[in-house]
Amino acid sequence: MLNGKKILLGITGSIAAYKIPFLVRLLVKEGAEVQVVMTENARDFVTPLTLSTLSKRPVFTYPFNEKDGTWNSHVDMGNWADLMIIAPASAATLSKMASGMADNLLVTTYLSAKCPVFFAPAMDLDMYRHPTTAKNVETLLSFGHQLIEPQVGELASGLCGAGRMEEPENILNVLREHFKKKLRFKGKKFLITAGPTYEYIDPVRFIGNFSSGQMGFALAIEAAERGAEVTLVSGPVNLTISHPSIQLIKVVSASEMYEKTITTFPENDITIMSAAVADFTPAVKSGIKIKKENALTAINLVPTKDILATAGGMKKPGQILVGFALETDHEIENAQKKLHTKNLDLIVLNSLNDAGAGFGVATNKITILDKSRNQYDFGVKPKSEVASDILDKISGLL
Ligand code: CTP
Repeated sequence: MLNGKKILLGITGSIAAYKIPFLVRLLVKEGAEVQVVMTENARDFVTPLTLSTLSKRPVFTYPFNEKDGTWNSHVDMGNWADLMIIAPASAATLSKMASGMADNLLVTTYLSAKCPVFFAPAMDLDMYRHPTTAKNVETLLSFGHQLIEPQVGELASGLCGAGRMEEPENILNVLREHFKKKLRFKGKKFLITAGPTYEYIDPVRFIGNFSSGQMGFALAIEAAERGAEVTLVSGPVNLTISHPSIQLIKVVSASEMYEKTITTFPENDITIMSAAVADFTPAVKSGIKIKKENALTAINLVPTKDILATAGGMKKPGQILVGFALETDHEIENAQKKLHTKNLDLIVLNSLNDAGAGFGVATNKITILDKSRNQYDFGVKPKSEVASDILDKISGLL
């Protein structure tokens, strides 16, 4: 899996840097090309000579070579790599990556990288669980980067807790798995809808819902990580995404989502509609703010178009269409009905009766139903893992 792959390896100032020569050796043994970029502080923990000897390439720390005035181009390195991994990733570097603080070669290279990015934090337990570090990790995850979680164990400080960098052999397995996964949806085009829709009443008021978009964004990232080209049509959410294989189309209302989704639908192989689309919209949208003296006591609503059902009616052989169903009662029965009436291949059911499922939470609990009346129940999991379960089932249909 790693043979011929170009790996950019960023090393930062953490004691776990002493394990990185083993990682370089393992990667090189598998046939990968490894380009090391290390921060100045990392050089206190492991020598550039050790790393250049093992990687068989020069190791870079500074943007310029003072002796001959040449440039170690972060842009070229960023373009060259198939994958970038920052290991160990210190608290300071996580913060710089999350905020774009490009004051060293490692971070400028990271900002130029167009490839998937992995990061393996290593620090003391209190630093790792500090809210600012947790927020930076969240931000990096929202960019679509992959966290290689630190392990619980004895730390260099003598304390015990989460903060030990994952072992080189396990990091190698994560990278192998990444390249294996990348082949699964290679050449496939995905269309994913996410988030809520806002239906304007007037320029300052709307009818909306609590969908955060997390499930749809997690699906987009997972599909892109498995090699797909993804178009993500999202309603208003507080999420950002930056992945070379994901094109984000932002919409506000159900009618805009309908238009963008239905025009793109025919070009796609696999469509997953996870958006919480409004079923009704105000019949009249005032162009100016409605004043209270005009006493608006009722809003007339008209139905929106069902995007999923429209796509189901247009579906050509070979196209796969997956819908979601959020139910509060008669869950399986209602979901089965939607599967058939909307001409779906799979439906993902969330029940609002399950703790940890549905809107605005980082986890979900799903049941997947297929056309042959098979039912697959899953436990409560982070939405990234739920996305992986859904894509595994879709993969089974190909
Ligand atoms: N959906 C859609 N367009 C709509 C309404 C729903 O594409 N106008 C999609 C959702 O993205 C989801 C599926 O249809 O994939 C089911 O949505 P849900 O709200 O559970 O069901 P509805 O069909 O709207 O029916 P009801 O609200 O009566 O349960």
